[in-house]
Amino acid sequence: MHSVCLHVYTFTQLHSYTVCIKNIIKGYSLTKIIVNFVNSFSYDQIIKSYYCMRPIKTNALTGIFNDFFVDSPMPTNISYMWNFGSLLGATLALQIATGVTLAMHYCPNTDLAFSSVEHIMRDVNSGYIIRYAHANGASMFFILVYLHIARGLYYGSYAKPRVMLWSVGVIILLLLIIIAFLGFSGQK
Ligand code: HEM
Repeated sequence: MHSVCLHVYTFTQLHSYTVCIKNIIKGYSLTKIIVNFVNSFSYDQIIKSYYCMRPIKTNALTGIFNDFFVDSPMPTNISYMWNFGSLLGATLALQIATGVTLAMHYCPNTDLAFSSVEHIMRDVNSGYIIRYAHANGASMFFILVYLHIARGLYYGSYAKPRVMLWSVGVIILLLLIIIAFLGFSGQK
């Protein structure tokens, strides 16, 4: 027997006896105790009690995490190449966090820009790490976006029913190129 089935099966028996004992303690009539005992073997009850074993599934917040990342049904063909999208999201978060931090110390003035960058590199706590993370993150973003698109092209992710998704991706790519021109032109 499959290990999960065995697990559910064993648990079901335990659960049914627990229901029985609880009903006796509650002082229910013999008829009710028997009816509840029989009902406790129903498919719905088994699923419900099996789910109750794992608070991660029933909790409002962790339940969302569980539904999206643990119990989410996925096509069997997807591989590690489908990680590029999440990696892009993580890189975007890194770029925003480091970008906002750099902007707190950067001065966009012709006379002051250079020295403000020197200030970030020398004086600001961990400033050099933040700047290098931002600069390398920008390159990482492009490497990942090319890999993400290549994956999409190779596996036909642009085709129906993902035409609109692909089109939004093209817009994101154009925005990315425009932003890169603005950002990189200020770099030495
Ligand atoms: C900021 C840039 C982007 C981010 C954060 C991002 C994020 C994601 C994420 C998280 C996924 C789901 C996981 C995966 O399949 O990798 C995904 C899927 C997808 N992305 Fe992107 N993406 C970006 C850019 C693009 C671009 C430029 C295109 C195309 C021109 C594109 C087209 C697609 C398509 C077609 C899918 C569905 C793939 C499938 O289900 O087979 N994305 N993206």
